[in-house]
Amino acid sequence: MGARGVAVVTGASSGIGAATAQRLAKAGFDVVVGARRIDRLREMAAGCGARALALDVTDEGSVASFVAQVPECRVLVNNAGGALGMDAFADADIDQWRWMYEANVLGTVRMTRALLPALEATGDGVVVVVGSIAGFEPYEGGAGYNAAKSAERAARQVLRYELLGRPVRVCEVDPGMVETEFSLVRFAGDTARAAQVYAGMTPLSAEDVAECIEFVVTRPAHVNIDEMVIMSRDQASARRVHRSTDGGQ
Ligand SMILES: NC(=O)c1ccc[n+]([C@@H]2O[C@H](COP(=O)([O-])OP(=O)(O)OC[C@H]3O[C@@H](n4cnc5c(N)ncnc54)[C@H](OP(=O)(O)O)[C@@H]3O)[C@@H](O)[C@H]2O)c1
Repeated sequence: MGARGVAVVTGASSGIGAATAQRLAKAGFDVVVGARRIDRLREMAAGCGARALALDVTDEGSVASFVAQVPECRVLVNNAGGALGMDAFADADIDQWRWMYEANVLGTVRMTRALLPALEATGDGVVVVVGSIAGFEPYEGGAGYNAAKSAERAARQVLRYELLGRPVRVCEVDPGMVETEFSLVRFAGDTARAAQVYAGMTPLSAEDVAECIEFVVTRPAHVNIDEMVIMSRDQASARRVHRSTDGGQ
């Protein structure tokens, strides 16, 4: 048993979740990871000694069977999620909006609700929500994702209020642009369009965000990091991004 207890990381088959699982394993947690692409998840988990379990946070049954295999949990990192598309409001694709709400908002609600008794039973549980600057800074083309991330943020804040006086911390980490598979997923596998998002600037890496999540979950029990906003030096807001004209870094 890792000295720090069990940490569950959702959406750990790539990006921020994978980097977080690796860091938390190194920091002495017993890490349990979940995602849909089980082969990739297993491969990542094997590299850091984590336990890989299939998980689709949009599916009640999948969440129930995941949680049934995790009787103890001290830290829950709700990271699974992402964006689909960048259509204008007028062209909103309701299925994409629905998925974003399901994965980012309801996924976090399902996982947190199911693991809350175990988190509280440790006497020092920590819930982390991986939000986004998109949750408090809407931008053109972002409505569906903005709506989902701000709803996730509102729910997280309410949970913090409702757990006041009980031994569970509720924290949110809000990154700006991070170079992961996020844009590839958002643009349905269009690699050129995804690469354009980070052209001429230095974005955050998944590792940069994972380091912050590790910091959040390793503070003393009385310290609750309510919100941590992290952007690269080249980004000052959702739409203010410095790009070098020569395309260099
Ligand atoms: N990259 C950015 O610029 C950025 C900025 C701010 C916030 N974020 C947030 O950071 C989180 C992680 O994103 P990322 O940047 O690391 O992107 P990513 O590389 O695409 O990773 C997303 C992860 O979520 C998992 N996932 C997606 N749907 C899932 C579901 N229904 N059930 C379980 N797992 C699911 C994916 O695994 P499977 O496909 O294998 O299920 C994958 O492991 C997301 O919540 C995202 O909104 C990202």
